[in-house]
Parts: sequence; C-alpha cells; structure tokens
Amino acid sequence: MVVNTKAKVDLGVVQETLLVPLWARAEELKQPDKIIFDPLSAEIVAAIDYDFAKLNLSYTDQITCCLLHWIMDEWAKDYLQQYPQGVIVELGVGLNTRFDRLDNGTVRWFEIDLPDTMALRQQFFQETERRKFIAASALDTDWCDLVKEVASGQPCLFIVEGLLFYLLEEQVKQIFANLLEHFSGSKLAFDCVSPFLVNRHFPDNMAAKHKWGIGNLKEIETWNSHYKLLEVRTCWDAPKQYVKRFPWFSVFFHLPVLRDFYRMALFGLT
Ligand SMILES: C[S@@+](CC[C@H](N)C(=O)[O-])C[C@H]1O[C@@H](n2cnc3c(N)ncnc32)[C@H](O)[C@@H]1O
Repeated sequence: MVVNTKAKVDLGVVQETLLVPLWARAEELKQPDKIIFDPLSAEIVAAIDYDFAKLNLSYTDQITCCLLHWIMDEWAKDYLQQYPQGVIVELGVGLNTRFDRLDNGTVRWFEIDLPDTMALRQQFFQETERRKFIAASALDTDWCDLVKEVASGQPCLFIVEGLLFYLLEEQVKQIFANLLEHFSGSKLAFDCVSPFLVNRHFPDNMAAKHKWGIGNLKEIETWNSHYKLLEVRTCWDAPKQYVKRFPWFSVFFHLPVLRDFYRMALFGLT
C-alpha cells in the first residue's frame, strides 16, 4: 500500500465505528502470541488521519474484538473447507481485512457497505476478479442478483459483524427475510449484544448507540420456521491461551450475564 497523504475520515455516525475493530486488529500486532495477525490493519491505522486515542478503548475492548474476529474467521474457514470455490459476502465490511487473511485462491468474495465507508475502503483495498466491492446498504436487495449469478446455486456464507446491533429489530428481520428469499440454503453468521447493552454507546465517546439486543437466540427461529440456529459462541470459546489474556477472565466468564454481552451466532437459512 502506497499512501502519500493521510486519508481523511468523513463518515456517518455508525460508519465511524469501523475504526474500533480496525484499531483492535492493528494493536494485536504488538502481542507476542497474536489472536489475529493483521499487518495490513496496522498499515491502514498509520495511513488514516484520525485521533484513535480519543476512542479511549480498553485492553478488554481490544481483546474482545480480536476474539470475536477469531471465531468468525473459524466459521469462514469451515465454510471454505466445504466450499473452496464458494461465495462469502460480508455485509457492513468496514475496513475489515478478512479476505486478505483467509483467501484460499479460489473463493469469490463480496464486500458490501454504505457509500461513504466504501469510498474510504477503496483507498486501501483493490477489487479483483474474485473480490468485488458493492456500495449499498445491507438492507437493499439490488445486489442480490449479482451475488446469485456468481454463486450459481451454491450455498453462500453471509457475515454481518459489528452491524446488526446498530439496526432496529425490524431491520434485522428484514435482512434475514431478504437473505432467505434470495439465498435459501445459505448460512448467516453475525455478532449480537445482550438486551443489557441496548441504548448504550460503544465506545462511550462515539455517537452510535446499540438499538437491537437479544437474550435467547432461539427466539429468531420463531420469526420464520426456515431459520435454524446452528451454533452460538462467546469469547470464552476461543483458545484458552487467548482468553486468559482478559483481566479478571475467570470472574468475567463465569458470570453468564457478563459472558453473554457479546455473542456470535451461526444460522442456517434452510
Ligand atoms: C462496527 S463497524 C464493523 C466493520 C467490520 N464488519 C469489522 O468488523 O471490522 C459497522 C459497519 O457497518 C456499516 N454499516 C452501517 N449501516 C449499514 C448498512 N445499512 N448497510 C451496510 N453497512 C452498514 C458501517 O459503515 C461500518 O462499516
């Protein structure tokens, strides 16, 4: 990546939150035993004109982001094992580097985000034949035909990380319904917050507020009989050598109310 002047950040309120996981991945490079090895994120942090210190993120925030990424990466790797030439679609991709971390040389990958985020993304990443960018909302359906054409009947993996909790529940339902309508047989992986975190800001000094939280993830199966909860994971399910880096980890993870603040869910759209 060659960057002569630092990139300006001029993003909407929710869009700006992409800087949190970006920073978390970049910071991880300083650790001896890295949860995620992501030199590209560190390069991007250095190339962006933004005061990351003002986010006031804690060590716990940083590890949480990286562990959640680690779990999502494992699900993506599982999918690629089964479908080496499959299609992965990241909705609300931000400045994530997952394709750069996991590309197996044959997967087709779509990265979707709102136009202002996509304009920033295009300063650091390039499209290729197998990697396409789409400037659109996750709630749109205009992009579905393009993805369907490439998937040509194969099940896709949809990844929605760091986004659903900023939407209203009816919007989350809409995304599920759109994906079921167009991509029946595919899987949807996402992270979510517990109801306790709804109406809270994360990080505290950012304007975006959590709007959707969920207690029992099985409840989603009642939205439509075609939604099947396949797996739920928390940071606790990542390898113990990483989890142990949490300050107070044993207290944190033995209290379900704290452990379940952030969870990852994998759904089948059958
Ligand atoms: C917390 S960031 C997560 C970024 C990325 N998934 C990651 O984990 O690094 C939230 C992302 O959702 C995007 N976003 C917000 N509303 C969206 C929408 N309606 N459709 C698509 N993306 C959206 C933002 O632009 C931002 O990139």
